[in-house]
Amino acid sequence: MNSVQRPVVLSGIQPSGRLTIGNYLGAIKNWLPLHEQYDCYYMLVDLHAITVRQDPKVLRERCYEFLALYIACGLDPAKNVLFVQSHVPAHARLSWVLNCYTQMGELNRMTQFKDKSAKHVDNINAGLFDYPVLMVADILLYDTAQVPVGDDQKQHLELTRDVAIRFNNIYLEQNGGQPVFQVPEPMIPPVGARIMGLQEPTAKMSKSDDAETNSVYLLDTPDVITRKIKRAVTDMDGSIRYAPAEKPGVSNLLSILSATSGESIAALEARFAGQGYGALKSATAEAVVECLKPVQARYNELREDRAGLQRVLKDGAERASQRADATLKRVHDVLGFIPQ
Ligand code: TYM
Repeated sequence: MNSVQRPVVLSGIQPSGRLTIGNYLGAIKNWLPLHEQYDCYYMLVDLHAITVRQDPKVLRERCYEFLALYIACGLDPAKNVLFVQSHVPAHARLSWVLNCYTQMGELNRMTQFKDKSAKHVDNINAGLFDYPVLMVADILLYDTAQVPVGDDQKQHLELTRDVAIRFNNIYLEQNGGQPVFQVPEPMIPPVGARIMGLQEPTAKMSKSDDAETNSVYLLDTPDVITRKIKRAVTDMDGSIRYAPAEKPGVSNLLSILSATSGESIAALEARFAGQGYGALKSATAEAVVECLKPVQARYNELREDRAGLQRVLKDGAERASQRADATLKRVHDVLGFIPQ
């Protein structure tokens, strides 16, 4: 293990589509305070993004856009390591090694693979199948203790733990009785871990959704946000209660309002008792607009400064590589590879 003082947090987002309030409430917002207790690493996972066809020009611009949004949301590059996955070659290299310690059966069970291969029937490539192993490598390279993600990443985290434990058991003696990898824990927020689509509240809100009105994007204007939330699908029952199975649309609005305002769901149910859905929608739209206002203002300043963003990425890649390379070396040593 590295001689680290503070435990490590690592997470990442695929630069595909546009960032949604699902990504913000399920992930980014929860990353913000962690630098106080942890060494934090946040990536743009471009290697993962190409498992689905991407337009090169769009992908490049989107990476700058996402980085500017990370910073605009409040991730200070001086306090967090912000980097692009492809800038740290150790990710692809460890991924290959871990392919040899992951079973086909384990990958076959991954629900994200099933969903994505159903959506992209003309491009079910090996990378799409192997996607979780690259994610395992991302996490294990940094001796990560905690991985702050939304609910949909739980299964990938379970795989990460299984692969780490398996590898540690095989090479325990070879590594002087010490585990090679730290076994990470998922960190999933109590509210906002699964924001659902506004038009289809039984499926999660997704940045690569084709239906514009199903998602609220971080860069949507206040008018657009308000319109989308006011048109959100609800039900005919008329009562404002949190009951996801029975009332998915209303429950989703309550989750969004709770996660953006900080007020508990129980307090919101009490506050809106006897009121109509219109009141809940107005309050939710207002809370989302308020929450995104400072993010959008800061984003517009940052996005123009390409040289500044490039400096952040260069510095991030150097800092990330230091830790990742040390882990990769440890892995190569226990495997019996000749040192370079
Ligand atoms: P991605 O890009 O799909 O999503 C990024 C983060 O946003 C969360 N999220 C949501 N949370 C709540 N409600 C939603 N509707 C919603 N949609 C997305 C996700 O849970 C995630 O935390 N495989 C990962 C990226 C990745 C990664 C990693 C994450 C690659 N390597 C290492 C952590 C550690 C993914 O595709 O996330």
